[in-house]
Amino acid sequence: MTPTDLRVFLASWFRSPLSVGALVPSGRLLAQALAAQVDPRQEGAVLELGPGTGAVTQALLARGVEPTRLVLLERDPAFCRLLRNKLPAVRVLQADARYLHRALADFGIKELDAVVSSLPLLSLPFTAQHQVVKQSFRALGPQGIFVQFTYGFSSPIRPELQHRLALKGRPVMRVIRNLPPAVVWRYARSEPAAARLAA
Ligand SMILES: C[S@@+](CC[C@H](N)C(=O)[O-])C[C@H]1O[C@@H](n2cnc3c(N)ncnc32)[C@H](O)[C@@H]1O
Repeated sequence: MTPTDLRVFLASWFRSPLSVGALVPSGRLLAQALAAQVDPRQEGAVLELGPGTGAVTQALLARGVEPTRLVLLERDPAFCRLLRNKLPAVRVLQADARYLHRALADFGIKELDAVVSSLPLLSLPFTAQHQVVKQSFRALGPQGIFVQFTYGFSSPIRPELQHRLALKGRPVMRVIRNLPPAVVWRYARSEPAAARLAA
């Protein structure tokens, strides 16, 4: 993390602490744990929600995900400027994740392989969480995955919502050496729902 990253992060946090959620950018081990869920050999688009200073983006690139596959969707204009300066080969959409389907359509992006989210999903009201997750799965192919970390003990996507959208989720990695310690969750469609979509 550069001094500029930290300055932009702190300024955004003071402007909007609830929207930024974390007190510090994601640590390297957490960023690597999120990136490890994405298969670098596939070719479809990978959408990152709430990339902030780009710590997770850089881990995805280091994993071998092509910059042309990556689409960063960030609401905060200061983070968008920082990301465009740092990572000119990666598309950055300044938009609200609650309306991600419209933002993807405006940029001609039809199908995603994976969504990697750093959004403070647990602190979103149910309706907003529903909008983000439903629209993510609307854009994901049948085998698509949604990856999210949490500092909490339970699923960051509420069980009621998983049931409503026919999703199954599981914790895949604990990152103890992060401030605070975090858990990475991975969600996919239930098998019958994926088979229906593929048919
Ligand atoms: C926990 S911070 C991300 C930290 C990031 N991983 C880093 O290392 O800098 C959450 C991010 O989600 C963004 N965000 C929050 N709500 C959003 C929304 N509705 N749409 C798009 N971005 C949002 C914030 O602006 C912030 O960049």
